[in-house]
Order: sequence, then structure tokens, then C-alpha cells
Amino acid sequence: MSVIKPKIDYMKNGPYDEFITPEVAVRMILPYIPKHVTTIWECTAVEGSNIVNVLRSSGYNVIPTHINKGYDFFSYQPEKFDILVTNPAYSLKDKFLMRAFEIGRPFMFLLPVSAIAGKNRHKMFREKRIQLLIPDTRFNFIPDKKSSSWFDTIWVTYGLELANDLNYIVVGNAEKIPASQSENSKSKVELSDKFRKVA
Ligand SMILES: C[S@@+](CC[C@H](N)C(=O)[O-])C[C@H]1O[C@@H](n2cnc3c(N)ncnc32)[C@H](O)[C@@H]1O
Repeated sequence: MSVIKPKIDYMKNGPYDEFITPEVAVRMILPYIPKHVTTIWECTAVEGSNIVNVLRSSGYNVIPTHINKGYDFFSYQPEKFDILVTNPAYSLKDKFLMRAFEIGRPFMFLLPVSAIAGKNRHKMFREKRIQLLIPDTRFNFIPDKKSSSWFDTIWVTYGLELANDLNYIVVGNAEKIPASQSENSKSKVELSDKFRKVA
């Protein structure tokens, strides 16, 4: 195997689809979740999911589903939710994005930074306005491993109507945001009428 092969493979399939989102990556999004959101759907929620735990302890009603529990993202959606927040399987990211746009509600996807390019995604992102939350650090997606991953990730968001399309976030600050209901973790963002109606 060549030295660079693992760096290429993570975009394709297999073990990299099972990366676990660390708490810090979830805390950084708390100030950007629109004000009117009460119910969040995590459509790839693994056992002990930090996305679920951090959002719940920040006061949100979270609906966790996973294909292993019989909830395939490509065929299931809960009746009521305000926003979808997930770290999808990277090998299926185009399909996940397509499906999320088809559902048409606001979403936040944690994806490799390279996901903003690529022929299919370019077309999707040209047609739909995405906005990015860009952390100043690489996250560690493997719980027992001490070092961070070898690639950068960003939150690709849709329907949040943030003031800026590019949001550079110092995660040092996000780390200080307690995973609890607090002023710091309260949203500063209004959800527009367009999305409030369908939620
Ligand atoms: C990158 S992992 C993220 C896990 C968890 N969401 C987290 O953030 O810690 C992606 C997960 O999506 C699951 N998955 C793959 N295809 C799926 C589908 N069609 N519907 C729901 N979950 C799926 C994988 O099994 C994997 O557990």
C-alpha cells in the first residue's frame, strides 16, 4: 500500500463511515442552531452518540435513528423535526446531501472540507445556498486515539440563514461552552418563516 492511500480511501467507503463525532465538534454548533428549533433529528445516531448527548443536554428534543435500528435515512424521516444534524457516512455523502435537500428542511452535516467541491456536489451547492462553519482545528474521530484526524472537517449547513456564508470558529471557545442549558449555548440565530412552516 502506498503511503498516501489511507488519505484517499477515507472518502470512498468502509471503516471511515463509522467515525464517531467528538463532543467538541457538536458544541461548536450550539450558537448557530436557529432559535426556534426544539426538535433535532440525528439520522445516523450510534450508541452513546455525542451529537445526541450534547444536543439533549443543551435542552433539545433529539430524535436518534440509525440504519442498524431499521431506520434507513434514504427511506425514513420522522414526521416532526425542525433541523437535521448529523455526521453522515462519508462514502455516501452525495446521497446523504441529495436526500437532505430533497427533504428540504434545515440541516447541518459534518463533512470533510474537500466535500465542498466535486462535480455532483458543485451542482447541488450551486442550486442551494449552503453556509459553512469552519473550525480552527482537526477533530479526533476515533475515541481511543489521542491524535486528531489527518483531514479537516467543516459543518455544511443549509436553511439556517446565518449572517455570513463562511463562519470561522475558534474551537478553543466552543470547548468552553458547557454541554448544558446555558446562555452560551442558546442559539443566536432566527429560523426564517420559510423553514418554520415546514418544521
Ligand atoms: C461517520 S458515522 C457517524 C456516526 C454518528 N452519527 C456520530 O456522529 O458519531 C456515519 C454512520 O452512518 C451510518 N449509516 C450509513 N448508512 C446509513 C443510512 N442509510 N441510514 C442511517 N445511517 C446510516 C453508519 O453505519 C455510521 O454509523
